[in-house]
Amino acid sequence: MAKHPRIALVTGANKGLGFETCRQLGRQGIIVLLAARNRALGEGATAQLREEGLDVHFVVLDVTNSDQIHEARLQMEKHYGHLDILVNNAGTISPEETLFGNSTATIAPEILRRTFDVNFFGLVELTQALLPLLKKSPAGRIVNVASILGSLTVHSDPASDFAAIKPFAYDASKTAVNQFTIHLAAALADTPIKVNSAHPGWVRTDLGGNEAPMEVAEGAKTAIWLATLGPDGPTGGFFHGTERLPW
Ligand SMILES: NC(=O)c1ccc[n+]([C@@H]2O[C@H](COP(=O)([O-])OP(=O)(O)OC[C@H]3O[C@@H](n4cnc5c(N)ncnc54)[C@H](OP(=O)(O)O)[C@@H]3O)[C@@H](O)[C@H]2O)c1
Repeated sequence: MAKHPRIALVTGANKGLGFETCRQLGRQGIIVLLAARNRALGEGATAQLREEGLDVHFVVLDVTNSDQIHEARLQMEKHYGHLDILVNNAGTISPEETLFGNSTATIAPEILRRTFDVNFFGLVELTQALLPLLKKSPAGRIVNVASILGSLTVHSDPASDFAAIKPFAYDASKTAVNQFTIHLAAALADTPIKVNSAHPGWVRTDLGGNEAPMEVAEGAKTAIWLATLGPDGPTGGFFHGTERLPW
């Protein structure tokens, strides 16, 4: 049987870790659907990777827009008939929250809702919509880009390196993402699909800031590993690099 080309969709891919994840998947010969909510930025990013010789195609996708999720699924069904890799990378932290502070006592409910809309509800809705296509792959892989800041174990330890970093809306949304990873992996345990959460590290992007020590090329590696796991790879786990993180 001819080997079918692998198809990957990466959300929030016009810049930062998502863009780099598209590049590294593309370099493995995978057809990459670069999804972004801003058409001009998404098309520009796609053109850049195509100039590098990679098979990358633009998909307009705001993960909070149900119509766009529906349309993206229809287009993928029509053009490819299946999906092998979904990297749920799109994410946000509100400007009302600072990375190095504790916003819990003051955070406005609308900031919480807005953060959850992107980081959690959008991620869940998109994944559910694409599951029928992932089930058509011989080896579906779902990578939920979470954060170590979603770890309850880390946050409940006052001695942890992350003790002072408590932007509540962001952290709680990433904890919810991790719960989705565990629940979905259990729901799909009888299928070849593997579902894992990734912590990229502290990476120099618009979200991570200029002080971050890691470059995007290094930061994308966890998602790349999880997106391309072999049949013996883990499912239902939380990783940085190949190291398992505490929930
Ligand atoms: N950088 C770090 O240190 C770090 C650490 C742990 C986890 N992470 C996670 O890694 C992921 C990527 O972050 P990054 O550091 O690469 O940040 P980034 O450069 O700010 O990129 C975030 C991406 O998400 C997109 N996005 C935001 N809201 C969206 C929506 N509603 N629909 C679709 N796309 C949307 C942004 O699009 P626009 O350009 O249109 O806003 C952008 O493409 C996030 O999930 C983040 O939480 C990052």
